[in-house]
Amino acid sequence: MKIVETVKQIREEVARARKEGKKVGFVPTMGYLHEGHASLIQRAKAENEFVVVSIFVNPTQFGVGEDFETYPRDLERDSEIAEQAGANIIFHPTVGEMYPLGYRTYVDVEGITSKLCGASRPGHFRGVTTIVSKLFHMVKADRAYFGQKDAQQVAVIQQMVRDLNMDIEIVPCPIVREADGLAMSSRNTYLNPSERQAALILSQSLFEAQGMIDHGEHDAGKLGFWIKENIQTEPLAKIDYVEIVDAVTLEEIEEIKGDVLIALAVRIGKTRLIDNIRLEV
Ligand code: PAJ
Repeated sequence: MKIVETVKQIREEVARARKEGKKVGFVPTMGYLHEGHASLIQRAKAENEFVVVSIFVNPTQFGVGEDFETYPRDLERDSEIAEQAGANIIFHPTVGEMYPLGYRTYVDVEGITSKLCGASRPGHFRGVTTIVSKLFHMVKADRAYFGQKDAQQVAVIQQMVRDLNMDIEIVPCPIVREADGLAMSSRNTYLNPSERQAALILSQSLFEAQGMIDHGEHDAGKLGFWIKENIQTEPLAKIDYVEIVDAVTLEEIEEIKGDVLIALAVRIGKTRLIDNIRLEV
């Protein structure tokens, strides 16, 4: 497995693979890889002969006062995980390579980016769609793999690909969880032991909500209220949002019916965690 740092190199490597008739799968990441990322790389490898993993902590998707500087980084460990999972190449550019002096162009998806995480992280999705567009132009992949962990990110990327006629297939992949239910995240490393325990309130609330729906609760308002009450029983938890929405448009719904997304963002101490479940009702 190779590691390259320049746009020129990654273009050459992908062009060579394509010339050999290989399908190209792409997994964009910010690194500090865990089993969630590995599951995307494995899926990409199962469906494509050549797999590119990008590792780039993208400054434009972090707001002022967010964790861009302190976001965990460990390229050596990441390369081992990526290689084990089946990556053929890692693209690990510098900030200067991606945003050279005088950089001026941004991609902005409207509407669905202002809800949920977009409401509490203004500008976040503009950074995500900008970097993902740039990466798609550099890594000419047949398919790109995204985790359902970031459900809104998947919806926003799919909207962008439709709207801008990008010739790439977006493959959403299921959330990988720790044995006790906590959704894997690079940010889980910020949690101290008592916060790590408190963080279980997210998945536990979602699983119980799922159980209530299975038992016939279809009132989104009631269910949302119950989830909020349940999260508030955890003293270390501070709710950012709890939303029950249509999984494609992210519009709020009143009745739990169709393709439903229950998404939440909760601060545990200083760490903001997100989790969700998607269900066909
Ligand atoms: P990052 O947070 O590193 O996540 C990279 C990919 O891994 C995303 O598609 C994310 O949804 C997926 N992922 C993370 N945790 C997961 C889990 N527990 N189960 C399944 N998939 C999981 O998302 C980003 O980076 C960035 O915004 C990026 C798209 C790379 C643009 O900078």
